[in-house]
Amino acid sequence: MCGIIGYTGSLDASGKLIKGLKSLEYRGYDSAGIAVYNSELNEVIIAKSKGRVAQLEAKANGISGNTGIGHTRWATHGNVSDTNSHPHKFGNVTLVHNGIIENYESIKNQLGVAGRLKSQTDTEVVAALIDNYYQIGSDPSNAIIKAIKEIKGTFALGILFDDIPNKIYAVRNVSPIVCCKNDDGAYIASDITAIGEYSKEYFVLPELAIAEISRDGFNIYDFNGNQVDIEYIELDWDINSSGKKDFPFYMEKEITEQPAAIQRIINDYVKNDLPCFDINDKLFRDFDSITVIACGTAMHAGLIGKHLIEKLCRIPVNVCVASEYMYSMPIVNDRTLVICVSQSGETIDTLEALKYAQSNGAGSLAIVNVKASSIAMQADNVIYTNAGPEIAVASTKAYTTQVAVFYLIAAKIAYLRGILSKDDVKDFINELKKVPSAVENVIDRREEIHRLSSSLLTAEHTFMIGRGLDYPALLEASLKLKEISYIHSEAFASGELKHGTIALITSKTPVIALITQKALASKQQSNIREVQSRGAMVITIATHGISDNIDFALPTLKDDFNIIPAVVAMQLLAYYVSADKGLDVDKPRNLAKVVTVE
Ligand code: M6R
Repeated sequence: MCGIIGYTGSLDASGKLIKGLKSLEYRGYDSAGIAVYNSELNEVIIAKSKGRVAQLEAKANGISGNTGIGHTRWATHGNVSDTNSHPHKFGNVTLVHNGIIENYESIKNQLGVAGRLKSQTDTEVVAALIDNYYQIGSDPSNAIIKAIKEIKGTFALGILFDDIPNKIYAVRNVSPIVCCKNDDGAYIASDITAIGEYSKEYFVLPELAIAEISRDGFNIYDFNGNQVDIEYIELDWDINSSGKKDFPFYMEKEITEQPAAIQRIINDYVKNDLPCFDINDKLFRDFDSITVIACGTAMHAGLIGKHLIEKLCRIPVNVCVASEYMYSMPIVNDRTLVICVSQSGETIDTLEALKYAQSNGAGSLAIVNVKASSIAMQADNVIYTNAGPEIAVASTKAYTTQVAVFYLIAAKIAYLRGILSKDDVKDFINELKKVPSAVENVIDRREEIHRLSSSLLTAEHTFMIGRGLDYPALLEASLKLKEISYIHSEAFASGELKHGTIALITSKTPVIALITQKALASKQQSNIREVQSRGAMVITIATHGISDNIDFALPTLKDDFNIIPAVVAMQLLAYYVSADKGLDVDKPRNLAKVVTVE
């Protein structure tokens, strides 16, 4: 939710800021803006515009200077408009903000600045608060610290002062800021994709520390003025691979990256045909129940994990939507293992739920894609999915790698608890090893899926039906279709449909049926006939040979292992519907990739 960027150095700032904002745009695309210190005029020049970075680019043309900050917005407070776009300037202070200031109304009243504020944002109030404590020539850090002590909420701030031409100040609470430098200057951003091309190493700005950033680098100190040590992290993503290459959309590119990404999970976490994490075995042995906490697609990966772990290990697994966790009076203690799943590692609801579980004694494990992200740092243990940057808002490779990790966790627990023998685990892992080529097969045959997708183009509603493990897979498939094609879609456990929802089935509601579970195939076929007899057009995606009348045949893997290829087929289905409707597949309306507000 919102991306911020900053650069100070020897080169033109606005070009770098605009370039970085294009990489950050997936965090929010309601509006964009930059502020650059122009040394000839001795003033901060702001250009901002509602809409995409491309619209800002035209307005920012000609703004020169070597120090600046930028922002791409997902609106929370105040509508989408030029005025509410960041940066915001008040008095001598100009800033960009990612996060939410909860007490902005009371600060506004206390400062008595309501009449002087131009926007309806929570952010402009922070600029006013810092300005309130700042006099030209005084120490900016003191003003920032005084202001921060009064603020309640989450924030990552990049700040310019009117009389300090060559420095940016930054401070954060919860919302992320990463930093790097090279011979040309120093950079800050909400995530490394925006600045990773400038250095092979970076660090995460510690929470509630002030960063004073000049072209020579970073001076970081705590609120008492003590120097804060920083820990550099090596960037092991190939940042060049984060481009779109020849694909029309990132989503298609990321779908095609899945065989390699799942193979990487197997290479990284399987040794001698056994699951192997750099984590003490105690974590997988010493607990009575598991709670998976996550949101959206990551939560759907958790539902697959629940099925696998419960089936293999006979341990209860509860899957909780992160935003509900704390308020559901969860049963959590030191015999609970909490597994948080998150692509970005920054989803605030997941992070807060994790902290809550930890404070109640739970052991914790994070399955995260982004290195050194907040959830990765907060959890006691982490398994990285190493899927590389995922830019499309709709998650694809993040999901399949999370699911692949759950197969390995299930096998690990079963092995450590003596439920599966070494040979059984090896058989299990050997079946998992077939998944990358099965996914490759689905992707190679994507034109078959493209043809099927044409029958969904004019649909307003679709239903998806499946049994057993197919049902949670369809929850994910349904989310994919909804978010990028704007077709209303609902996934149902097939047997549940006739308890109400079948009333909605007409000849205008396509139904997508998934069959990968042999033991449930005949029941599922009956359910398909039930909807067909109400006139529904059914698209059947099923394991080759499991059923008659298959529209898209999945490769023949054992029941539990065809879920990943099945979801990939349905990612492609959603993708083609969206692309053929002429929609912006990568940036669906109202959404943002990283959800850092509750
Ligand atoms: O970064 P996270 O995995 O924590 O994000 C959670 C959800 O916002 C995310 O999975 C979302 O549902 C997907 N991007 C939708 O495709």
